[in-house]
Amino acid sequence: MGDERPPCALVVMGVSGSGKSTIADSLATRLGWRYEDGDRFHPPANVAKMSAGQPLTDEDRWPWLQAIADEIDRVCRAGQRAVIACSALKRAYRDVLVHGRDDVRIVFLDGTQKLIAARLAARKGHFMPPGLLDSQFKTLQPPETSEHPVTVSIDATVEAIVDDIVRQLRLSQ
Ligand SMILES: Nc1ncnc2c1ncn2[C@@H]1O[C@H](COP(=O)(O)OP(=O)(O)OP(=O)(O)O)[C@@H](O)[C@H]1O
Ligand SMILES: [Mg+2]
Repeated sequence: MGDERPPCALVVMGVSGSGKSTIADSLATRLGWRYEDGDRFHPPANVAKMSAGQPLTDEDRWPWLQAIADEIDRVCRAGQRAVIACSALKRAYRDVLVHGRDDVRIVFLDGTQKLIAARLAARKGHFMPPGLLDSQFKTLQPPETSEHPVTVSIDATVEAIVDDIVRQLRLSQ
C-alpha cells in the first residue's frame, strides 16, 4: 500500500446490523480514539423525515455526508483521531467522506444476509421494517480495490474483529 500517512479517521461501514456501532465503539476504545456515530450529523430535516418513516433520498444525504466529512477534517486538523460508524453503502457516499484524504480509511464489515438477519432479529430495542435488509443489500456497493479498504469478516467475536482491523491497519503496538 505504500506511503500514505497514518490514519486519523476510520469509517466503519456496512449494512444495517453488520455491527458498525458495536465494532466502531470497541475499536475506538482499543485504540484510545474518539467514537462518533455518523447518524448524529443528520440535519434536522432528515431526522424529521426518518422519524416519519420516510426514506431519505440521495439529495437528503449529501449535506449529512458533508457534515461528517467536515468533522473528519476538524478532527484531523486538531491532531485528534476518530472512529466513525456510518453505513456509507455507495461509492459516491464514501467519496464525500474520504474526499481524497489518504489518512481516512474505510473499514468494511462483510457478512452474509443470513448472519446479519439473525443478529437483527436478536437485537433489542430496535424495530426493523421488513424488507429493510433486502434493500440495504441491493444498495450496497462493496468498496473497490482503489479505495484500499480494510475488509473484515463479521463472522467472529467482536474482539477478534477488532484484532483483525488493528492488524490489517498495522495500528498495533
Ligand atoms: N461480532 C458480533 N458477534 C455477535 N453479535 C454482534 C457482533 N457484532 C454486532 N453484534 C450484535 O448485532 C446487532 C447489530 O449490531 P449493531 O447495532 O452494532 O449494528 P449497526 O451496523 O450499527 O446497525 P444500524 O445500522 O442499525 O445502526 C447488535 O445486537 C450487536 O450487539
Ligand atoms: Mg448502529
